[in-house]
Amino acid sequence: MTNSTEAETVSSLPTGTRMWPLKRYIEMHRHSLDDPKGFWAEEARKLDWYKTWDKVLDWKPPYAKWFVGGKLNASFQCIDRHVRTWRKSKVAIYWEGETGETRVCSYSTLFRAVNRIASVLKKLGVGKGDKVVLYLPMILELPYLMLACARIGAVHTVIFSGFSAQAIADRVNDIQAKVIVTADGGYRRGKIIALKEITDEALKRCPSVEKVVVVKRTGEAIPWTEGRDVWLSSMLEDAESFVTPEPVESNHPLYILYTSGTTGKPKGVVHSTGGYLVFNHSTYQWVFNIRDESVFWCTADVGWVTGHSSIVYAPLSHGAAIVLYEGAPDYPTVDRWWDIIEKYGVTIFYTSPTAIRMFMRAGKEWLEKHDLSSLELLGSVGEPINPEAWQWFYKHIGQDRCPIVDTWWQTETGGIMIAPAPGIEAIPLKPGSATLPLPGVDAAVVDASGKELPPNQTGLLIIRKPWPGMLLDIYESPQRYQESYWSHFPGLYYSGDFAMRDEDGYFWLLGRADEVLKIAGHRIGTAEIEDAVIAHPSVAEAAVASKPDEIKGEALVLFITLIEGESPSSTLKKEIIQHLRHAIGPIATPDEIYFVESLPKTRSGKIIRRVLKAVATGQSLGDLTTLEDTASVEEVKRAYERLKNASGKAKKLLEAKRA
Ligand code: WT7
Repeated sequence: MTNSTEAETVSSLPTGTRMWPLKRYIEMHRHSLDDPKGFWAEEARKLDWYKTWDKVLDWKPPYAKWFVGGKLNASFQCIDRHVRTWRKSKVAIYWEGETGETRVCSYSTLFRAVNRIASVLKKLGVGKGDKVVLYLPMILELPYLMLACARIGAVHTVIFSGFSAQAIADRVNDIQAKVIVTADGGYRRGKIIALKEITDEALKRCPSVEKVVVVKRTGEAIPWTEGRDVWLSSMLEDAESFVTPEPVESNHPLYILYTSGTTGKPKGVVHSTGGYLVFNHSTYQWVFNIRDESVFWCTADVGWVTGHSSIVYAPLSHGAAIVLYEGAPDYPTVDRWWDIIEKYGVTIFYTSPTAIRMFMRAGKEWLEKHDLSSLELLGSVGEPINPEAWQWFYKHIGQDRCPIVDTWWQTETGGIMIAPAPGIEAIPLKPGSATLPLPGVDAAVVDASGKELPPNQTGLLIIRKPWPGMLLDIYESPQRYQESYWSHFPGLYYSGDFAMRDEDGYFWLLGRADEVLKIAGHRIGTAEIEDAVIAHPSVAEAAVASKPDEIKGEALVLFITLIEGESPSSTLKKEIIQHLRHAIGPIATPDEIYFVESLPKTRSGKIIRRVLKAVATGQSLGDLTTLEDTASVEEVKRAYERLKNASGKAKKLLEAKRA
């Protein structure tokens, strides 16, 4: 694919790397790293500030504060700015419910809705810095509420509507939220998810919550707690139609979003207002080349960072038209998404490798029934995309005509970090590679000692310089913030991902290097699942591993030891699965459960994960010379044999019982 004769350099390329003659990109990237403050100040001027910053960057490692002293408001950026122009009558959101209804929301409708909801929040006593939890399906009220919080300087925490009671309680308690907003239900694959009941159950464990605001979606009867619960619709009856946006300092938190780490407790990732918006505004333009006539559809759930940045804040800050679809991708038929693309004339389609693999399996016939000629650009996010899925995406969805932007980023990075940037220059693509770091992003692949690796060697992905979208902190856990991201290599941001850079400087992201799993693109920590399993009364100990899955990327495998007197059975297996779905949510459904006599541990009691992994994937233990565990090689081998026999026996036992 390459025809570059002369090696060009990007200031962050390891030696031995060639580079395509990408003039604009290289210049921009080089300038951004040579003069980050000048570069980002120029980008920041694309937004509206009530007051400009006193200082572009205050970098006291590991804390970065961007645009210090600057004042702005996120709701103003995403709405007021546009309603002052011709965009007031432009579409902001095409919403489609799973049941087929459509609502088209213009920027002036968005303005009115967000103002009125902001007025409701104020009447409920919510003010600047207060935290509001949003546990909602993908309905218009979700972005309305996020922007309404931002308007008054309140901090939102969205909890993915697929999470269950315990997961909600953990998050609500961590931030001590006083207000939670939910709905009377949400539609998923034709069924109703009882969000209010789940909320009520969670709130039994959440003494901080004083008010529950309920959005009407399904009209189903729901349990009601007088004095605590209020309908949003009745509060709106006497809401004001304008609420002055609260100017906040650039480092005032816009939101806290929980994500999984290596301990059982999820991390509350805190994002700023100014840096976050500047970073998202710019990267969105570079990667998606957004124009006024674009119709942008990101299929993620608003409950994840992709939804925060790529559904709400980045597109709306550009006055773009987005699609928001409430339901399941394959409901009522497998071509629901293709129907939506055709119906709204989607031009940019941003989705996950898991979804693509699912459609691949369903077959291209479903696509052929639809006119997808509106599509111009495709995007992938959330997990590595295998070249087969990439090719299928390109050929059958993009009809050999649309470039694919594979975008690498994380909840913590706030916005896209590594991706092709057609908005800057047409970057030659390689199926399976996220290509090059965006301007302002100084990414590298290092070995265990933090030394940069030459091309084509696998190592760990790190970021050398702070960027404006970087998380401010982990909520009330500065120590965890430092340990998670800055203790592996002092001064370098540790991503937790394996990566490789090829001879053209392209990044290949190779999956997590820590105890975090990516199941269907959803991030979940092994410790979180283990804690939940152990809470089952029959379980003594639990350990989680994963195995490759053709569609989901990874699938969950559980190893369990039972308490005295309990014995393995398929009933117990089912019970544990139910228990997990109930405690965390359907994303934590294991594909396999092995009941074993004991778990492989080191003398100091640490679970030897690579043994679990080898048993789960049915592979041999492989090279033990680079063993990072404290276990001895012999110990590992013995544990492996024991477990392999045990899981084999357990399997046979269950099969025999079933027969
Ligand atoms: C992890 C972050 C970024 C929004 C959604 C995920 C994996 C993400 C890619 C990609 C390979 C990817 C990484 C990363 N990941 N994008 N394009 N190629 N891997 O956010 O839930 O915080 O997960 O997702 O492993 O660390 P998240």
